[in-house]
Amino acid sequence: MPEVQQAQSFTSSLREDRSFPPPAEFAARAHIRSRAEYDAMYRRSIEDNEGFWREQARELDWFTEPTQVLEWNDPVAKWFGDGRLNLCHNAVDRHALGSRAGKMALLWEGEPGEVRSLTYLELYAEVQRVANVLKRYGVRKGDRVAIYMGVCPEAVIAVLACARLGAVHNVVFGGFAAQALADRMNDAQCKVLITQDSSFRRGQDVLLKAIADEALTRCTCVETVLVHRRSGHDVHMQEGRDRWLQDELKSAEAQCAAEPMESEDPLFILYTSGTTGKPKGLVHTTAGYGVGTLLTTKYIFDLHEEDVYWCTADVGWITGHSYVIYGPLLNGATVFLYEGAPNWPDVDRFWQMVDRHKVSIFYTAPTAIRAFMKWGADAVRKHTLSTLRLLGTVGEPINPEAWMWYHREIGHERCPIVDTWWQTETGSIMIAPLPGAVSTKPGTATLPFFGVEPAIVTKSGEPVPAGHGGLLVIRKPWPAMARTIFGDPERYKQAYWSEVPGCYFTGDGARQDEHGEFWLMGRVDDVLNVSGHRLGTMEIESALVAHRAVTEAAVVGRPDEMKGEGIIAFVSLGDHVEPTPGLKDELKKHVAKEIGALARPDDIRFTPALPKTRSGKIMRRLLRELAATGEVKGDTTTLEDFSVVAGLKEKDEE
Ligand code: WT7
Repeated sequence: MPEVQQAQSFTSSLREDRSFPPPAEFAARAHIRSRAEYDAMYRRSIEDNEGFWREQARELDWFTEPTQVLEWNDPVAKWFGDGRLNLCHNAVDRHALGSRAGKMALLWEGEPGEVRSLTYLELYAEVQRVANVLKRYGVRKGDRVAIYMGVCPEAVIAVLACARLGAVHNVVFGGFAAQALADRMNDAQCKVLITQDSSFRRGQDVLLKAIADEALTRCTCVETVLVHRRSGHDVHMQEGRDRWLQDELKSAEAQCAAEPMESEDPLFILYTSGTTGKPKGLVHTTAGYGVGTLLTTKYIFDLHEEDVYWCTADVGWITGHSYVIYGPLLNGATVFLYEGAPNWPDVDRFWQMVDRHKVSIFYTAPTAIRAFMKWGADAVRKHTLSTLRLLGTVGEPINPEAWMWYHREIGHERCPIVDTWWQTETGSIMIAPLPGAVSTKPGTATLPFFGVEPAIVTKSGEPVPAGHGGLLVIRKPWPAMARTIFGDPERYKQAYWSEVPGCYFTGDGARQDEHGEFWLMGRVDDVLNVSGHRLGTMEIESALVAHRAVTEAAVVGRPDEMKGEGIIAFVSLGDHVEPTPGLKDELKKHVAKEIGALARPDDIRFTPALPKTRSGKIMRRLLRELAATGEVKGDTTTLEDFSVVAGLKEKDEE
């Protein structure tokens, strides 16, 4: 593990004394109303972990009730192993066929301004029709289906239709480039791709179908492409392979039985960056993921029947899976979706929509909050925001200044803020305050959710005293945890269950204060967090060295006021290649083209050589220091050739 030692000597400069108890009116009608109630329920969930989860599993509707809870063969977990259920049935049918038939399930606004809504009964019909179209093209239980779409009801319907059939969805974020899409479809061996002509962002067409066409030239597994007509943008349709979803739906029946799934049948694969160049396809399974997302949504967002819930994440990230789609719909909530950019046509677009659609729960990322701050409070103050009652954040540690701004300008000092720590791998939120029970403080995700046992330890697994930084681990399996990496169980074991003996290793550094609250301190591995999105430095390096001009590259993060972390690439060029500003631009474009715009380096620095240890390992710590401060003060005793650093510094001062 790279430079994990660092985390053991983390000293946190964050000292925060402001504390905000749950407002009395909020607590009075919350699911969990006091700290004592949380403490008791948490204690029970740890002391009788299986009993607790057995009970909570009853919140789902089962075709066959499970008698088993956890079967743990380190690191392979089976939860509710002998149960049978279907999550689409749970997220849609039971509401549509019950008291929520006429309740709004999805409420969507396109970027150009059109509004659409679907009741649970309408969603029920649509999902079955799309499931029947998938069936028509041979999709069966266990088959993988790629989804490359923008945020729209059809993306949610596509996901649910897969779940209905027991097909494994593989949603790829619409901001990823052709190669990234091809890699993810190939790795998962997807048989069908569901996409759309284009999507709108910042007034522009995002040409999803055209990018998909390019990806498909590098992909032989996909037999059928279903294209949702969203914008009317002209696209190429390949005879025999590509079909308009709308045309297919005309002849599709609105009845399609939900496949009874085993608890441990895979529900989806979602790719995320790791410390190697190859993204990891994390596999989530059915029952545990369902229980975890249902329960966390209910308690952490304190969801009530009349709430209008808005999580701003794209469906292509885990937050979109767990807290746009599954968690809220399993609870029968009304989910608001928005297609486009927050500053289109104006910087107050979000707040307009909050008022227009009476949003009561709003969940976003610190990087977005910092953008709102930059755009100014005046844009916000034009709107009442009177329906909001709860705010959330996710994706990176939130700086106290942004927290306070969110509290004041968006929450009007009335709405609790839940800072939710979790990961693609954990499936559901792990550390967060229950808003009616736990006092919040700017910068801490506070306390663990029920059944979750986090700890701060050294690399050898020794506990670290309160107030000191260390590695964040989870001591017990939990239902929504990822079960494996698709096609690579060994890597799963290595990455998560081998670094710290007997524990799940999160890759994050953190400290626990004397009140038991967790303060997250960022990644301790070679993974960057750019605008709340995870990017492996190796992935960007691989893209760079694939360029003909580059011989070697090292990518590090640098603190960035807006994005959390910015991307700095140190690049050595081949002989006779001129280090020109034009080449810098070309390399930035190249990375964006290979991976996606979110991976575009903020800065490229040319260097004749990279600083290495005697064993040939690039000393990223030095590069990080250099990128952040322009200097290298840390230990350089293992450095093979100091003149390399001297050279880099000179460059820097140019
Ligand atoms: C990494 C996981 C899970 C949702 C979005 C990101 C960082 C996430 C927080 C938070 C501090 C956070 C961690 C984590 N992170 N939430 N509330 N406070 N850090 O999912 O792409 O899997 O990234 O995001 O570093 O390991 P992801």
